[in-house]
Amino acid sequence: MTIRLGDLAPDFEQDSTDGPIRFHEWAGDSWVVLFSHPKDFTPVCTTELGAVAKLKPEFEKRGVKVIGLSVDPLESHRRWVGDIEETQGAALNFPLLADSDRKVSDRYGVIHPNANDTFTVRSVFVIDPSKKVRLTLTYPAATGRSFEELLRVIDSLQLTDKFGVATPADWSQGEDVIIVPAVTDEQAKVKFPNGWKTLKPYLRVTPQPGA
Ligand code: BEZ
Repeated sequence: MTIRLGDLAPDFEQDSTDGPIRFHEWAGDSWVVLFSHPKDFTPVCTTELGAVAKLKPEFEKRGVKVIGLSVDPLESHRRWVGDIEETQGAALNFPLLADSDRKVSDRYGVIHPNANDTFTVRSVFVIDPSKKVRLTLTYPAATGRSFEELLRVIDSLQLTDKFGVATPADWSQGEDVIIVPAVTDEQAKVKFPNGWKTLKPYLRVTPQPGA
């Protein structure tokens, strides 16, 4: 199954290191980052899980719950957790799904047979509180992800949802944003009382609202 932006995130029930999870119920009103990793006891995955554990307070600040996924069984996850804490200096503090029957992996389309027909690829899904998929990413097995980049995208999603703006290349929190072309100059006067710069009629920038 291919999941596209705007699709309803598939619901599931599956075991995890925090006990059985009914996904939509577990997500509640939060944003969710669901990310798959190829395999327990592998070097890149070990660093990734440590990185996410360290960033958990940043995800929480943004109202985001994090959940990991691989096809390894629960007892493997439980043995691996000690290695993550020992080598990365951070204990696992979010659930890891144990998807041995591939129920979740198949619904999210994270087994790519031309890459590997056994393991999940390195995918990420950002899901909003209405359970819509807002971002998908897939990385190759040998490349660890930037979870700081995910925080940046979540900042952009939450800002653009709230204020009807767009964010430029490499934007980060506090920097100028773009007034979307659908907003006329007349409407912009009301929406953006701090004014804006018109670089081109289609490219108007304004201080980040609410900053
Ligand atoms: C890793 O996490 O280190 C890894 C996993 C699968 C293939 C290559 C590297």
